[in-house]
Amino acid sequence: MVMINIDRLCARINALAEIGRVGDTHGVCRLAFSDEDRLARDHIAQLMHTLGLAVSVDGIGNIFGKRAGQTERSPVMTGSHIDSVRTGGRYDGTLGVAAGLEVVERLNELGIDTERALVVAVFANEEGARFQPDMMGSLVFQGDLDLVQALDTIGIDGTSIRDNLRRIGIAPTTRTPDKAIHAFVELHIEQGPVLERTGATIGVVEGVQGISWTEFTIGGSSNHAGTTPMSMRRDAAFVACDIAVFARRLCSAIAGNQLATAGSMSVFPNLVNVIPSKAVITIDLRNTNEEQLKLAERRVLAYAKDAAASDGTTLDVRTLARFEPVSFSPQIMSRVARSAATRSLRMHRMPSGAGHDAQILARMCPAGMIFVPSVGGVSHNFNEFTRPDDLEAGAMVLWDVLLELLNERDPASTAGI
Ligand code: GLV
Ligand code: MN
Ligand code: MN
Repeated sequence: MVMINIDRLCARINALAEIGRVGDTHGVCRLAFSDEDRLARDHIAQLMHTLGLAVSVDGIGNIFGKRAGQTERSPVMTGSHIDSVRTGGRYDGTLGVAAGLEVVERLNELGIDTERALVVAVFANEEGARFQPDMMGSLVFQGDLDLVQALDTIGIDGTSIRDNLRRIGIAPTTRTPDKAIHAFVELHIEQGPVLERTGATIGVVEGVQGISWTEFTIGGSSNHAGTTPMSMRRDAAFVACDIAVFARRLCSAIAGNQLATAGSMSVFPNLVNVIPSKAVITIDLRNTNEEQLKLAERRVLAYAKDAAASDGTTLDVRTLARFEPVSFSPQIMSRVARSAATRSLRMHRMPSGAGHDAQILARMCPAGMIFVPSVGGVSHNFNEFTRPDDLEAGAMVLWDVLLELLNERDPASTAGI
């Protein structure tokens, strides 16, 4: 059985983590299209060149490194992202990219030629922390998000993606991969506690839950905190907090493991003795069941309207991102499970709580994911950690699944099930 080089894989992840590293923490801040993101992209593109890959960049800044196959059959794709949230860990996304490059390097070392080409993709702006929606690069590549609309997106700092791409000097190359992809497989850390709790090393990912991001902007009236009677206030922050509390409490009343997060809140003028005139709050709702997710959205919206009206404030509502639940390819799930069994790795079938580029690729080709445990279930946090043994196990399963797909002649990716 082929082993990957775990020391090299860890060294690659750690080297990438030095780019945008936050102080003396283990974490990174590489918001999409920032200077740090640019440095990390250059680092990976350089590595791709060193490994002999043909490197291309598309209009939204996705990077593709292609290792040629022996035939012109559609390529197999793997990869993930290297942008991060502001409080990012070093494994989220980077594992999938580094492991894809490790597979390429092992293929090169072992002199293995494959029927199909292998493309390692680095999708731009997966996180959506600075520019919404998340999974933007894969959405543009797949085709459901128009490139011009994506480039015009204004981020949380008021600048557009177009301006940022110009600022950091990213321009598309002429040739990018064909959209006919044989299959897509992404290795990722779980980012939650399930694998650790079940004692499994490999997560066979069945799909991704639905994700709904909404921004509520509440307009009130600034006034003196000491002189304005409670009955005469139009307090924007009060309404925002009320919506956040409602969304959180709603979760226990909705079936299907409803989740709600008020992750971003800003208040104006944000002073101790001034009633806030404006508040902007985001609500992230997730559920594996689309009908329940729609119900949660309706209930939060109805509550927000009532809360705003009863305090005499205005309400503007904007959808930032919306993804229905996704099911991954059963064929790829069986391949992941079979590799784990062959390597005597304990596995667990599970949905993904986080959004991933693989869920967008699933719209265009058979797609799947492999998860490895996150210690303490911690992610989007500087302390995110996955043990080297688990990284190695995940990368070996990725190797097995990719190798099968790379030599598969059947176009439907069903051989060997
Ligand atoms: C992306 O990481 C998300 O699930 O929010
Ligand atoms: Mn990720
Ligand atoms: Mn993430």
